[in-house]
Amino acid sequence: MTELTLTHLAWSPLGHGHCHHQFQLREVELSVAAGEFVGLIGPNGSGKTSLLRCAYRFNRPATGEVLLGDVDIWRQSPRWCAQRIAVVLQEFPDAFGLSVEEVVAMGRTPHKSLFEGDTLEDRQIARDALLSVGMHGFEDHGFPTLSGGEKQRVILARALAQQPTMLMLDEPTNHLDPRYQIELLQLIKRLNIGVLASLHDLNLAAAFCDRLYVIDHGRIVASGTPAEVLTEELLRDVFGVEALVDTHPLCGYPRITWITLP
Ligand SMILES: Nc1ncnc2c1ncn2[C@@H]1O[C@H](COP(=O)(O)OP(=O)(O)OP(=O)(O)O)[C@@H](O)[C@H]1O
Ligand SMILES: [Mg+2]
Repeated sequence: MTELTLTHLAWSPLGHGHCHHQFQLREVELSVAAGEFVGLIGPNGSGKTSLLRCAYRFNRPATGEVLLGDVDIWRQSPRWCAQRIAVVLQEFPDAFGLSVEEVVAMGRTPHKSLFEGDTLEDRQIARDALLSVGMHGFEDHGFPTLSGGEKQRVILARALAQQPTMLMLDEPTNHLDPRYQIELLQLIKRLNIGVLASLHDLNLAAAFCDRLYVIDHGRIVASGTPAEVLTEELLRDVFGVEALVDTHPLCGYPRITWITLP
């Protein structure tokens, strides 16, 4: 079953702008099947964040549709979407004064009525989420006092507490050390829900993604398995860098070795 489908999608920052020099998403066709881990890669400014914003009902596309199952998310309320789609963003939310426990508890909000307090079940879900990202024991810490990587893991815990069917992440490994980069992606992979994640580390993308979409200047220029997509030619054309691509000797996915002559 297809979880997420973007069809014929177009968007530009100024609405229906037709200026050719201005950034636009154009003709975007993208899908994520249930349980599939899909990566979105592309240079800085290519449109990854803009595309994700359309997909989680933040930027309203100028044309095209965003379907969850067979439902157009722009015909549904933000709450309807938040019950199904969780988002981990590039910037941290302004959580001034909130504790870790309170930040994770926010993940339960879409499933509750306005003044309903946390139930025992809500607390158990939040506890499990913190446990799974290795942040249990930090419940009473102030969110702003955490390190960048700790914040990132708490924000993922909040997304898990939302119990989404679809998870979208914008450069989720940015602040993480190598161990937590790998642990976070392993954790996400094992969730077995649909995942759409923008990633800058192409070796991590190769290791964890079932399929990749490559975006450049607002257009999808390639898609397929990591082995199909991550070629020396594509890295040269899209990213403007020289690399050797071979196969990881133990794991079988593509391995990129950057050629960086001093
Ligand atoms: N609301 C906006 N108003 C004006 N320009 C915007 C807006 N949103 C995005 N842009 C422009 O659209 C282009 C694509 O931005 P976007 O953030 O989607 O890139 P990205 O692929 O996520 O880049 P990065 O890898 O640096 O995160 C950029 O040139 C950006 O300046
Ligand atoms: Mg971005």
